[in-house]
Amino acid sequence: MFPYNAHNRQLLETALGNEPADLVIRDGVLMDVYTGRVVPHRSVAVAEQWIAYVGPDADYAIGERTRVIEADGRAIAPGYIDPHTHIASFCNISDFLEYAIPGGTTTYVTEVESYPFALGAKGFKAFLEQVRNRPVKIFCLIPPMVTASKAAASLYITTKEAKKLLEDELVLGLGESYWQNIIPTPDNRVLRLIQATMRVGKSVQGHAAGAADRKLAAYAAAGAVSCHEAVSPEDILSRLEMGFCVMLREGYIRKDLESLRPLIGKIDLGRCALCTDGVGPDLLLSRGYFTDVVQKAVEMGIKPIEAIRMASLNSATHFGLDHLIGGIAPGRFADILILPRPDTMAPDLVISEGRVIAEKGKTLVPLPRVPYPDRLLKTMRVPPVVPQQFAVPLSACSTEGRVRTMDIQTNGLVAREGSAEIFSSNGKVLADPGRDLLKVVFIERVSGRGRRFVGFVRGWGLKRGAVASSLVWDASGIVAIGADDQDLALAVNRVIELQGGTVLALAGEIALDIPFPIAGYLSDVRIEDLAAQLATFQKSVRDLGSRLESAHLTLVTQPTAAIPFIRITEKGYFRFRENDYVGI
Ligand SMILES: [Fe+2]
Repeated sequence: MFPYNAHNRQLLETALGNEPADLVIRDGVLMDVYTGRVVPHRSVAVAEQWIAYVGPDADYAIGERTRVIEADGRAIAPGYIDPHTHIASFCNISDFLEYAIPGGTTTYVTEVESYPFALGAKGFKAFLEQVRNRPVKIFCLIPPMVTASKAAASLYITTKEAKKLLEDELVLGLGESYWQNIIPTPDNRVLRLIQATMRVGKSVQGHAAGAADRKLAAYAAAGAVSCHEAVSPEDILSRLEMGFCVMLREGYIRKDLESLRPLIGKIDLGRCALCTDGVGPDLLLSRGYFTDVVQKAVEMGIKPIEAIRMASLNSATHFGLDHLIGGIAPGRFADILILPRPDTMAPDLVISEGRVIAEKGKTLVPLPRVPYPDRLLKTMRVPPVVPQQFAVPLSACSTEGRVRTMDIQTNGLVAREGSAEIFSSNGKVLADPGRDLLKVVFIERVSGRGRRFVGFVRGWGLKRGAVASSLVWDASGIVAIGADDQDLALAVNRVIELQGGTVLALAGEIALDIPFPIAGYLSDVRIEDLAAQLATFQKSVRDLGSRLESAHLTLVTQPTAAIPFIRITEKGYFRFRENDYVGI
């Protein structure tokens, strides 16, 4: 069942003045996202969760029990909508919301990739229970689970399962399906998921990084309707022209909003929306959630009303939800922000479904933690390892005296294929930290056999020790990088023992461990403690010689099918262009 107003009779009576409102906001400046005007002297009446009236005078709706909020010339804006985010990893949803809500985001559309990479459709359902009945709306997208690591195949959400999940009111459609893995060689599994989604009138969100012309057209033709990977003005234009909703990303993975600057004032922004694509614990604690993105749009010269529209109505329309959210109008959910001024995006007051949920940066509503089902707590199906399993025989090299490498580029995300001269002893290829040549390992955690591949990586700079993590993107397993086989085994075994985590091992000891025992992706400590642990990880890795800006992010993205050009899987390196698996 989709959200709707079962009490529309009462709501219309309030609009007519026959029933008092529960809440009246008096005399504000209305940020009218429908006409693009900023209208002074406007008041709003709310009954239960819904807006009943917007106009010059709502005093008629004030009864004995009506709460009255004096806007006093402050701005009245719709609650923000983040149309593309990732909130299903790192920390508990309650902790996340405590910090996110005061920024004014009342609707989140999130990808749910982590839980299913631990438990398939059951994992997805477990996440739905985490976000149901929250004081804000959290809509979910079914992950197509496009992965370079095929070991996760047994966890794929089937079309049959997806059809059932699509019936849930919180499920808006299919999440980002990386184009480069489904377009050049058509992936019938994903195409069937797309069809199942379209058949029920829901939509398919895209990820068209690097696609242009015919490939971009093919992606749109396959059914994808949005892209949050436009990183240049040309990307923005080509995607808009092909009918995509362009979600301009400004979050912890990348910051791309600047690419819109040359187009401001030149194009219609009605099909552009702002999004975060996820905000990590440190950024959430230091900068809050999404408000800074809307403010940045204003600072770039976009009119405040337009920036607000890009953070509300445009996303609502894209998802076919504009009859419910995205603007201040009768019949919509009363998701309302009181902003100090029309050009200041951090709200004084956040109202969600008629209830004041935050004031001046503080969340006012209880956010109880929802218990996790037991099956989410034991998901590391990997036997313990011994250092000898990471030995690489000389015979494995495809070119004599050399190994194929993943070369991490300066942004820490993209890796290009490289080749390095080797250093060997007793018939084994060794890591050579002096030349920044380290081992990189991926071990799948699905089959119970711990199938793995050991490759080589450059660009880390680690001089000693090893790091390992189960928070891998778009795969189910453990990724590890190290200068030393003993430490590699130690770090991996600790991750298994913790049933998920990020670990640093050094000189035969565990130097740091951060448990992520829930699905191998979530911590159960408070978000403040988790942010501190992650900061310590970054500092420790830097002390060992790493130059990476965010070593944790670089570590966990090594297996993802989302970032080119060469990735690690249990079958070997995966090469994007060739779409094949190769060894060292
Ligand atoms: Fe994303």
